[in-house]
Amino acid sequence: MTDKTNAVDLITGHRRMRRNRKADWSRRMVQENRLTVDDLIWPIFIVAGTNIVEPIDAMPGVNRMSIDKAVEAAKLAADFGIPALATFPNVDISLRDDTGSNSLAANNLINETTRAIKKAVPNIGVITDVALDPFTSHGHDGILRDGEIVNDETVAQIARAAVLQADAGADIIAPSDMMDGRVGAIRRALDAAGHQNVGIMAYATKFASAFYGPYREAIGTSGLLKGDKKTYYIDPANGTEAMRDAALDVEEGADMLMVKPGLPYLDICWRMKESFGLPVFAYQVSGEYSQIKAAAANGWIDGERVMLETLLAFKRAGCDGILSYFAVDVARILAKR
Ligand code: PBG
Repeated sequence: MTDKTNAVDLITGHRRMRRNRKADWSRRMVQENRLTVDDLIWPIFIVAGTNIVEPIDAMPGVNRMSIDKAVEAAKLAADFGIPALATFPNVDISLRDDTGSNSLAANNLINETTRAIKKAVPNIGVITDVALDPFTSHGHDGILRDGEIVNDETVAQIARAAVLQADAGADIIAPSDMMDGRVGAIRRALDAAGHQNVGIMAYATKFASAFYGPYREAIGTSGLLKGDKKTYYIDPANGTEAMRDAALDVEEGADMLMVKPGLPYLDICWRMKESFGLPVFAYQVSGEYSQIKAAAANGWIDGERVMLETLLAFKRAGCDGILSYFAVDVARILAKR
């Protein structure tokens, strides 16, 4: 018998990670995380009118849709098996004011959208954002008084708006405003109105991020916003503070937690999942979407592979699902596999 030991085996000491990677079948066998259609939540943008599908320049492939078109989109998503939609209204500028009073109109754009979708496509979940920014003339998420976004008055209004959203059929209320005490106030208001089964997905850790830029074009707040949102969103530098903020949402009764933006904050996703054991979702926000689209359009990256890789990264980081503008594109690819 000749000794087959060679110099390379001396280098590896027989420990070869590459054995499991040698073939497609063995790689599939050891794959730890998988993306499925059940992981996807699709955010959509709504405008008033009918038969409108209006491209958003800063988000190639994403449109603002009138309610009739949103219903068609909801059917498409449900047929693919996407569990839920998240709706964002682009409210007519004439309806926006200092306090976002249109958020308290039972038949406003977001609530009419929910009604139409729930009626036509009852088997898809509808998640509504209850922040005031689509309704305020200054683009802030709360009520502006003497240069300050006032917390408690905003919370009271958001809790009332949440009840109206639930009345319209929303399944999950998602407050993205980062006012203190909002989750508890929304829970109490929903319960008092008989909406015990309506859930709360807290935008538990929402960072003061530059990645929201394209979204503000989508809902028409980019030209309006004065100043920034640093007095209520979390500083991107702060992980411990983010955990404390999420812990308060858990105490106040959140059913699910969200991290926003997504990819730059995977550490927060992981820490939140480990700490609270609640379902954790990441929001792959508009800027994350647009940067992939832009690089792909220039031929600099393979857009489809990067899209799938980013979404899988959320799974690896412990997320139970992802809000992504890619949801339908991904569902289409997964359906073919
Ligand atoms: C505000 C809100 C934002 C997004 C959803 N709701 C951010 C903001 O404008 O401050 C961002 C979504 C995205 O960028 O995709 N309540």
